[in-house]
Amino acid sequence: MKNIPVIMTIFGGSGDLAHRKLYPALFNLFEQGLIKDNFAVIGTARRPWSHEYLREQVIDAVHENDKNVDENHLKQFASHFYYQSHDVTNTEHYQAIKDLANDLDSRYSAQGNRIFYMAMAPRFFGTIATHINDQKLIGSGFNRIVVEKPFGRDFASASELNEEIKASFSEDSVYRIDHYLGKEMIQNILPMRLSNPLIKNIWSGEFIKNVQVTLAENLGVEARGGYYETSGALRDMVQNHIFQIITLLAMGEPTALSSEAIHAKKQELLDSMIIPSADEVKKAFVRAQYAGTDDTFGYLQEPNVDPDSKTETFAAGKVKFTKGPLANVPIYFRTGKKMREKKNRIDIVLKHMNNLYGQAHSNNITIIIDPKSEIYFTINGKRISEPGIRRENLAYEFSDYENSLVPDGYERLLHDVFVGDQTNFTHWSELAKFWEFIDAVEAAWQSENESVEKLIQYPQGKLGPKQASEIFESPTERWIYE
Ligand code: BG6
Repeated sequence: MKNIPVIMTIFGGSGDLAHRKLYPALFNLFEQGLIKDNFAVIGTARRPWSHEYLREQVIDAVHENDKNVDENHLKQFASHFYYQSHDVTNTEHYQAIKDLANDLDSRYSAQGNRIFYMAMAPRFFGTIATHINDQKLIGSGFNRIVVEKPFGRDFASASELNEEIKASFSEDSVYRIDHYLGKEMIQNILPMRLSNPLIKNIWSGEFIKNVQVTLAENLGVEARGGYYETSGALRDMVQNHIFQIITLLAMGEPTALSSEAIHAKKQELLDSMIIPSADEVKKAFVRAQYAGTDDTFGYLQEPNVDPDSKTETFAAGKVKFTKGPLANVPIYFRTGKKMREKKNRIDIVLKHMNNLYGQAHSNNITIIIDPKSEIYFTINGKRISEPGIRRENLAYEFSDYENSLVPDGYERLLHDVFVGDQTNFTHWSELAKFWEFIDAVEAAWQSENESVEKLIQYPQGKLGPKQASEIFESPTERWIYE
């Protein structure tokens, strides 16, 4: 593997994301030789840490992720980390980061290459981007910026942030992270769809009745009530993860496996996305909040949540396109907190067939994304001792060995940033389309809010409110996972 020379600055170097995800992922890339002798990482945050203290944190973070590491390698890795305390609004601090980056560039022969990673509270993204530009932090080699979600909270704020970033970075150097695009079973969608004639040839409205995407979590909002109040399930999970999954399911076949060809096909599909009217939102979208129990809080009692809040912790709805292989096929989705179990899955529901044996059961293709990787097909066969048709599962589940080979999503995505591959990142024009859709639903919900006293409350430990079973276009449709 290539040794990439680069100075990487992580804004939010003392934060949870850096600790849990970025440092362990960077160590794995170091072990693979992708970054080796010619890199340094500058961690920045408000706290007055020293280089030494950051290095100890990095070592702890790697240990917490994996106990069996080579300690000498780890020490050597950590020696590439430097700390710069930083107030995002203070321009002098950007000068300090710039000087440190230039020093490190000479020391490590980093060839003027820079990666800037925004891993702090999103309200600072715009300010940081602006100062990267006006304080001239851009290096003389490649310059890339990685932006965590949420990228804006509606189309207008996302566009504003995009303009601030554009001042220093062209679209082909902006890496908008969606960690779902680093997941094994999501990266597997296109190969599965396109490399098997059985699947490829039935991927159309002629055979597919509907598609169902469920991202269910058993946890509640935990300590993130403050953030969640500004977001809700629609912005937190649908705007990014669910829409990316749906795009991969419904896009046409790219002409090549390049980032350009894949994004072009995605965009072709998204340009045909039907934006729902307020009436459609009433019919086909549901929002709700988890209720309390005798011993646990409901959403409205969670810390930092307004007791009269109308922020949804569950959202369900429907997306349709006028183009692509699934043109006019309803794609239903639902996501929520405090549901029965952690389960991310996709169900492709095939149409019923009338045949010699009468009305056969519908068959499904199911992809389980989390907590384990699994694919299963249902097929029909004869009943053994009586007339009629029965349904059976053909299942493929990853073995422990296969699971052990799957890298963490962040490791994959960071690797792609280092090598300059944007395939699994969100392009601005995709994001703009996603926001257009979300804004339409949010606007309809906002206007309903005036007449709604309280959102629907759903019981914890189930699959959401019963109203989510009423969004289907026809009475013969239902959630496959129930
Ligand atoms: C994040 C959301 O993007 O995804 C969280 O902000 C959510 O609210 C998380 O819990 C779920 O990710 P995963 O990988 O655990 O399914």
